[in-house]
Amino acid sequence: MTDISPQSYYQLAIVSGAVSGHGYAALPPELLATEQSVARQNPAAALTLNRSLCRNLLKEFTLADACWVFPEKFHFLYEQQLQRIENLLTDKPDSYFSFDNDPFRKDLAILCHRLIPCGAEFATPFSGISRSLIFKGGLRQAAKFIQVIARCRGIKPFLELHMHPHYTTAFNPEGWIETYENLADLLAANPSLLGFQSTSWFLDPALVEVSPHLSYLREVPERCGATILYAGEDDCDYSGAFATSQTRRDLYTSGHYKPRLFTRIWPRKLLIQRIWQKL
Ligand SMILES: CC(C)(COP(=O)(O)OP(=O)(O)OC[C@H]1O[C@@H](n2cnc3c(N)ncnc32)[C@H](O)[C@@H]1OP(=O)(O)O)[C@@H](O)C(=O)NCCC(=O)NCCS
Repeated sequence: MTDISPQSYYQLAIVSGAVSGHGYAALPPELLATEQSVARQNPAAALTLNRSLCRNLLKEFTLADACWVFPEKFHFLYEQQLQRIENLLTDKPDSYFSFDNDPFRKDLAILCHRLIPCGAEFATPFSGISRSLIFKGGLRQAAKFIQVIARCRGIKPFLELHMHPHYTTAFNPEGWIETYENLADLLAANPSLLGFQSTSWFLDPALVEVSPHLSYLREVPERCGATILYAGEDDCDYSGAFATSQTRRDLYTSGHYKPRLFTRIWPRKLLIQRIWQKL
């Protein structure tokens, strides 16, 4: 099926109803099947269709289609992203517009209301807390898990944060405080959301020694009501911990650092107290 028109392809993306999966990258099964079928016969045609899909989603994008109440600041955060996506439609080569390219899937997720720009990172509003955390860190962690879930009053729905590798302007201590403010505003405006969570190597307490300039990422949330739990070993072949830091790469090679994942769970009740303002 290489002869589908950009308009019909766009219609496949906006059908209401089930998408495959719960994560930000979820897309309607019929769209995915069509993309694969086109790509098998003509990979270049699939990329062209995906670029036009992105253009059409951008053209038709409106915050009114989202199921969330957006505080004023979010209008600005969305404007920034829509401008960024418009620029990449002209600046990026065709290869960018592949469904296998995670940054592009994140762009589509923003346009399909599956990722909300929050500042330093983006939140998917369809997530829950993994029950397996109860078994990952011994009895003490199990007790902390039960306590934080009781405080949240459930395991879903939670906002789950993700980083966009092409948008890291606010990934710094001031930008993260702004992000917590934005998340508190968003949770205050949407009482059904129980809190936010995220999992990363950069929440590892070992960073106090390994990369002290990143220790604020764990310290501020911990001091302001978040619970941080051990979530397992990171995959050393793909870990983002090695993407930008020669120091972390060297420490890994010499056996002094191994990236580990930690999950941060911040209950809405505690987040909206904005304790960071009093630190
Ligand atoms: C998360 C991320 C944006 C943090 O970037 P960052 O704030 O610049 O912090 P990094 O430790 O990665 O910095 C890289 C280099 O910049 C320098 N640097 C950045 N901020 C610094 C600071 N405040 N003081 C000193 N050096 C600093 C360091 O030289 C460091 O290299 P080194 O560790 O070899 O010394 C970055 O690591 C990244 O893009 N990672 C890949 C994607 C990823 O992992 N995402 C999260 C998935 S869960």
